[in-house]
Parts: sequence; structure tokens; C-alpha cells
Amino acid sequence: MAMELARARAARPWALFVTFLLSVFFVAGCGGRTRWPAHAVPGGVATPEYHATSEAVKVLRDGGNAIDAAVCAGFVLAVTHPIAGNLGGGGFMLVHTAQEDAVIDAREVAPRAARPNMYLDERGDPIPDASLIGPRATGVPGSVAGYLVAHERFGKLPRERLLEPAIRLAAKGFVVDSALAAQLRKYRDHLARFPETAQVYLPGGKPPMKGETLRQPGLARVLRAIALDGAKGFYYGWFAEELQRVASKYGARLTIGDLATYQPKMREPLRGQYGGATVLTMPPPSSGGVVLLQMLGMMEMAQWEAMRPTQRLHFLAEAGRRSFADRSLYFGDPDFVRVPVAELLDRAYVRERLATIDLGRATPSSAVSGGLSSGAESEETCHFSILDAHGNAVSCTTTLNGAFGCGLAVSGVLLNNEMDDFTTKPGMPNQFGLIQSAKNEIRPGKRPLSSMTPTILLENGKPRLLVGSPGGPTIISTVCQVIGRHIGLGQDLREAVSAPRIHHQWSPDVVLYERLTDSQKDALLALGHTLRKKDGPMGDVQAVARQGNATVAVSDPRGRGASAP
Ligand code: GLY
Repeated sequence: MAMELARARAARPWALFVTFLLSVFFVAGCGGRTRWPAHAVPGGVATPEYHATSEAVKVLRDGGNAIDAAVCAGFVLAVTHPIAGNLGGGGFMLVHTAQEDAVIDAREVAPRAARPNMYLDERGDPIPDASLIGPRATGVPGSVAGYLVAHERFGKLPRERLLEPAIRLAAKGFVVDSALAAQLRKYRDHLARFPETAQVYLPGGKPPMKGETLRQPGLARVLRAIALDGAKGFYYGWFAEELQRVASKYGARLTIGDLATYQPKMREPLRGQYGGATVLTMPPPSSGGVVLLQMLGMMEMAQWEAMRPTQRLHFLAEAGRRSFADRSLYFGDPDFVRVPVAELLDRAYVRERLATIDLGRATPSSAVSGGLSSGAESEETCHFSILDAHGNAVSCTTTLNGAFGCGLAVSGVLLNNEMDDFTTKPGMPNQFGLIQSAKNEIRPGKRPLSSMTPTILLENGKPRLLVGSPGGPTIISTVCQVIGRHIGLGQDLREAVSAPRIHHQWSPDVVLYERLTDSQKDALLALGHTLRKKDGPMGDVQAVARQGNATVAVSDPRGRGASAP
């Protein structure tokens, strides 16, 4: 096919010109709907923002591998997707190469001054917003260290090359698209809380509108320091001092010592099977991989793929109910508490859980053992998936937790509010009415429980599907449904990503849904489910698949992402 195209072009120079014009049109195209022609992309890239995808493609074209492209995209997202992309947050990167599979755990940790009761008042009640707003809500950021470790271990191109696009976009600015303009408008009050943040995102006192240029000179300076000095540029020196100074101005003890001692961790991915593929996914401190593998295990054992469509929805809700019940009871940072991963993934145990599912009736959550309820992670996370032409693959999910994190930017670096992912008070409902486990209570140096689920499926040892999403606990259901539809039902990747999704997390005992038909809703109600329509979309999947000999990348139509090809 490629040779035929090459011959045709040689024979007809005008065809080359038309192809060039079309390529320019497609590549320079229209935000979330941008498409790259297949011949222009040595691999597949899906990220939640156009510039990140575009720059990752250029890295691949310059001879970089998937890890180089991912590092470049991660830094660009900190500039162009500030609602969730970050230097001041954390995340998980799952890497597959011909030699090894690895997870880089760059999750934030609780600062050394953190205490289990730090968000409780003198009566022992949670202080509203204390774990959400301002730098007291901030865990020690991990993303920068994570990207740099990934680059040192797996990358090929020089660090400066990978940071150059982010520095350029921060210093010279980029044109705000309608989706970013809407996000800045929506979170205007949050961005106005701290003058350090308002001066970046509300220049002249108002959010930039579509078509205006957003410049971030402070962020460019931090990015330059990282390009020059690596991790030292962020975790030591002037930026660390500035972070400590500004945090302390707002009553937080986030110190130079906290930054200097931060370390990402290399972890072994979890491994499971579904539809003949090997599933590589995220181990604790995320609950995502275990819950995902339990759900896929139940689906395969029950032959979910052969069920009627409404029965499939019912089954997903019931499998989610059981796996999330376990999630609430058994999970925390594995460096601090024992998480019984092997027991939870044991086939006999998964079969036992499956045996309690009644295909003709919803089981009330009160009748499902599992103890405490799931946490309520925020949904403002982001995911990107990148495959290169040599079969190296990256599936990376990163987060500030809440939209624009805790609201404070230090030298343009938005800080996370990941401390809210810890249990504020064990055994007592939090501000969302949810109860959380003591395994996830705050300790200095501990990582908060997460639901992020970067996942790679391999067939015959080669990447078949790279997938992940934002969405708090709904991440896991989202990833599960895309895998179930694409691998289990054989749907085209675009169809699998676009399809409506549901979510059940045991507590509250409701099926959260996006778009169901009246007859689907009636059928679920008749089975005894309580339904709740989700406010806004569920997830923003970025996926890459090998379909036959082709690589297909898909950005969720729910978001502002761009995929190539
Ligand atoms: N903060 C979202 C998560 O880690 O799941």
C-alpha cells in the first residue's frame, strides 16, 4: 500500500502537491477532531490536547521512541492542558519495550509534616475544603521526577530536545482554543483565589478567550531549569526555595527537604488475561489494576461477550459493585500497608465473587460483603497513550487531582490537591457522604490511594491496545468497557471509545450512566437498579490499537484531545 502510494506520487507530481495540502489541512486542523494521515506518523499517539500530540509526533519523526514522545507530551500538557497536565502533580507511567515491562510510580507523597488528623477540627470533624484548597492540600509532586526517570532509563533523544516544545509554548504562548477558554471560565473563581495564580490564568482580571494567546513565563523558567539541570532544577535550588516560601505564606509546611527526598518508584505491572491478550496494568498504590483485572476476569468467566446488550450492562454494574467493595476494604500504599493483591486476583476468589451475581436481579450493595466505601477521587486527571514503530509503548495517566489542583501556582507551576485522595477520617463519611478505610490514612511519605489505570494489552508479546482515562473511580469502569468492547466484542476502536458508559462503585448503590436508551433504562430498573445520570461526560479515553497491520489512535470525542494517525 505504502509502495503503491509512493509510485503514484512519483508518476503524478500534482498528486504529491494535493496530498501535501491535505496533510497541512488535516494536521493544522480543528482541535479535538484533528487527524494526521497515517504515512505522517511512525506509530500512534493519542493525548488530551492538540499541541501535545503534535509535538509527540515530531519526536517520533525525529527518531525518538515512545518514551521520548511521552516525556515530551507530558511536559507540553503541563503548559497547554493546565486543568490536569502538570509539573506540580503526580502520575503513573506504564512502559512496554521488547526487553521489559515496567511501571514508573510518580505518585505524590504526603509531606513530612503531614499527620492523620491534619484535616480535622478540634471536635474531630473534617474541616470543609481543608484537603482541597491551597498548599495544605498538596502532596510532594512526583511528575517531573517520573518523566526524568523514564527518560534516563528508556529514552534516546537528549532531555533538552524533549523539553524544548514545552518551553517554547510556555514562553511564546499558544492560542487558547474554545475548550480551554471554557475551562478557564468555569474555574475562574478557583483561579482567582491566589494572586500568584490569577496573574497567570486571569491576565487583566479575566480568563483568556478563544483565539487569545496564553503566555506562562514563570512556567517557562521552571521548564528551562529542568532542561538544564534535570531533577535538580525542580527539586533543589531556586524553584524549591520559592515553593517552600509561597507554601509557607499560605500556612503549609511543604519544604525543601520534602522536595529533595522525593523519589519515584519502579514497580512491576500487574498481569492478567482477557480475550487471549495479556493485560499489563497498574498495581497499588492504585486500585485500578486489581479492580480492572477482577472485572475482566468475571466477564470472561461468565462469557459476557455472548450476553444480550442489556444483560451486559447489568453484569458490568454487578461486577463493579463487587470489585469496588473490595477496593474500599483492602487498598492503601503497599509500602505502608499490606494489600492482598494475589488473593484478590486468585481465579478461585474471582469465581467465588462471580457466583454471587444474579443475572436476573440487582444485588443490593448492603448484601455484598466488602466493608467500607470507595474514595471519591476527583475526575480532573489526564491520560495519554503512545506507540512507536518499533513496538515500544507508553500508557501514562497523570493528575493534579482537582481541576487546576489546589488553585495555587508557584512560578506558574500549579500545585496538586492530592492529599484529598487520603482518608480524612477512617470510618466516618467524608464530605461526599462516603466512608473510607484506615489503610489509606495519612502518614508522612505515604502515597494516597488512586484509581488511575494506565493499561497495555499484548498479543503474542506485542502491543495490541494502549488505553487509559481520567475520571476518578470511573476510570476503572471506563478502561474496562473500552477493553470489553474492542477486544471482547470486536468493535472498532473508535466505536468502543465513543460508546456510552456506565459505572457502579458499590457505594452509593447506584448505576451512574451517561447515555442510555429508554428501553435500556427500563430494563435496568426492572432488575432492581437505581439509576443516576452523570453530570457531564464519563472519562476522556486516549487509546492506540493495532488493528491488522494498521495502527489506529483514538481521542475520546468527549474531550479536546487529538490523535495521530
Ligand atoms: N486523583 C485521582 C486518582 O488518583 O485516582
